Amino acid sequence: MTEKELIQAAVEMLDKAYVPYSHFPVGAALECGDGTVYTGCNIENAAFPCTICAERAAIFKAVSEGHRTFRRIVVAGRSEKFCVPCGSCRQVMREFAPEMEVICLNGKGEARQYTLRQLLPESFGPEYL
Ligand code: THU
Repeated sequence: MTEKELIQAAVEMLDKAYVPYSHFPVGAALECGDGTVYTGCNIENAAFPCTICAERAAIFKAVSEGHRTFRRIVVAGRSEKFCVPCGSCRQVMREFAPEMEVICLNGKGEARQYTLRQLLPESFGPEYL
């Protein structure tokens, strides 16, 4: 999938987000090491902490289907600011793909690209155990 297609896949997930509480939809599209793509959206819950972010929804779908390596993830939001992943999502990405690229979109469709190392420096991972 091209970067443009991956971005499109993340943007399309904004409409699937279940966000009755925050009204802040997030869409994600994750490219695995073999090129397979999994998408995700945030899914909120009346018991607020049960909410899952779009990025983790996509990663958990992929891992539960047997994938363990990831090249890049696109995170789409509709606000003015670029939709960067929360700390918990960064840590989950780090577990499997410390070198992955993270492409963050704002509501205008503009993109800003990071490495996970930039977003989560000096991070704890499996090799520390
Ligand atoms: N959210 C995500 O889906 N990904 C992030 O990395 C940041 C936050 C969601 C969680 C919640 O449904 C809403 O955005 C507001 O925090």
